[in-house]
Amino acid sequence: MEDLHTARLLLRRWTTADADVDFLFDLYSRWEVQRFIGRWPRVSTERAEAVQRAARYARLDEPVHGIWAVSDLVTGRLHGTLLLKELPESGPVEPLAPSGETEIGWHLHPDAWGHGYATEAAGRVLEHAFAHGLERVLAVTHPDNTASQRVAGRIGMSAQGVTGRYYNTTCALFRADRPDGSARPDG
Ligand SMILES: CC(C)(COP(=O)(O)OP(=O)(O)OC[C@H]1O[C@@H](n2cnc3c(N)ncnc32)[C@H](O)[C@@H]1OP(=O)(O)O)[C@@H](O)C(=O)NCCC(=O)NCCS
Repeated sequence: MEDLHTARLLLRRWTTADADVDFLFDLYSRWEVQRFIGRWPRVSTERAEAVQRAARYARLDEPVHGIWAVSDLVTGRLHGTLLLKELPESGPVEPLAPSGETEIGWHLHPDAWGHGYATEAAGRVLEHAFAHGLERVLAVTHPDNTASQRVAGRIGMSAQGVTGRYYNTTCALFRADRPDGSARPDG
């Protein structure tokens, strides 16, 4: 998983260091962060959960998909998580089967909201996805999650309406197709 840079941000691999674990625990223990995530949103209450999450994220090592720590390029301060992953399709059996689609997602700490960081990081990850040959990327948002839908719109994704096709839940779906010529020859 490669580091990605933007004008203000470094997107890097998560580590199991205390600072990363503490941040992940703080992030996912907040209702304002979790309320629109997953079918049955819940806040994290145990630090051990963040330890496991950090270890899981730190192990990820795929060339295109990834779960990045979004940090300030200058100070290193953590802002949140950017995800590019298999999108599970709705179905009767858990764990849900992969749909064959890739989804992009963004979870930022409330202290980092309102600065354009999610849009800046997500735009970079979308560019990375297309440079490495993905044909299209989807985003699934809770129908009431207008802040997230604005991010999808700002990075050029188009609204596809509401669907029950993924995650056994009802989502407002967004889609971005690879622009012509954006795949690197070695991508
Ligand atoms: C969804 C989420 C990432 C959106 O965060 P955000 O900070 O509003 O999004 P952006 O990074 O695009 O920032 C845009 C805001 O920053 C403002 N801004 C300030 N400085 C800016 C700058 N230099 N450049 C761009 N925007 C800037 C914009 O005006 C905009 O504010 P507005 O929404 O009040 O108009 C955030 O609400 C979140 O993490 N929520 C919890 C997790 C979640 O629900 N994730 C989505 C699951 S589908």
